[in-house]
Amino acid sequence: MSAQIISGNQISKKIRQELAAQIVELKAKHNLTPGLAVVLVGENPASQVYVNMKEKGCTEVGIYSEKHLLPKDATQSQLMDLIDKLNNDPKIHGILVQLPLPKQLDEKEVLNAISPAKDVDGFHPYNVGKLLVGEPTFVACTPFGVIKMLEYSGIEIKGKRAVVVGRSNIVGKPVALLLLQKDATVTVCHSRTKDLAAETRRAEILIAAIGKPKFITADMVSEGTVVIDVGVNRLDDGSLAGDVDFEAVKEKAAAISPVPGGVGPMTIAMLLSNTVQAAKDSQGI
Ligand code: GUN
Repeated sequence: MSAQIISGNQISKKIRQELAAQIVELKAKHNLTPGLAVVLVGENPASQVYVNMKEKGCTEVGIYSEKHLLPKDATQSQLMDLIDKLNNDPKIHGILVQLPLPKQLDEKEVLNAISPAKDVDGFHPYNVGKLLVGEPTFVACTPFGVIKMLEYSGIEIKGKRAVVVGRSNIVGKPVALLLLQKDATVTVCHSRTKDLAAETRRAEILIAAIGKPKFITADMVSEGTVVIDVGVNRLDDGSLAGDVDFEAVKEKAAAISPVPGGVGPMTIAMLLSNTVQAAKDSQGI
């Protein structure tokens, strides 16, 4: 039987509509327009696409947005000065520095410099720590989007065996923490896991965040599993593929998210949601 398709396009549209309505109210009742600053250093083509999509998302829901472009040879102090300025700008409630940064820049120092109250990416150690102790404030947008997809699709997390493949700071680790917080029994697998297929076959919820196209094959998935594919991989023919062999796995899974149109649009919706949250928090609303 073919799986239920978990459409990030549809779910994110609903979330964006809800946000747009909230923003109308914030403007009318509180004279508050949420503002996001996006910082892009250099000319990484994928980053340019992501940044443009984030700006478009802001415009659609009524968030004020600014794009700050720095040259690829920008210095650490140039970038730190910009962050300092944005930290102190009352129009700006959220700051996002698009990663990866060019090699000469110290990513850790940059992420640590963003005010935790404006850290809508959820990458500051303060916000990561809040997530670890089960009191999340800003949660990284992709993991947050994964959980919302499950929730909007009516998939219960509590008590389920969840297997996360990938242990990055941006996706694998935070999504594992969120699943744990929702009372799943969580296993995190990675490149040194001994028998990966044995682990993934035990999953009732499988999160693929590896970064290798079609890495999760049908033999690695049990009948009835819910599969969320976080991968975005560009193939030689220019098309996009996830980390899951979608066509084969959808015949076994109970539900599966596609690529494109799955986690990607959810990431943007959660960024918008975090920005609205930051704006409300700044006014104690
Ligand atoms: N690069 C890839 N994913 C992300 C993300 O979620 N946020 C930022 N800032 N950079 C990224």
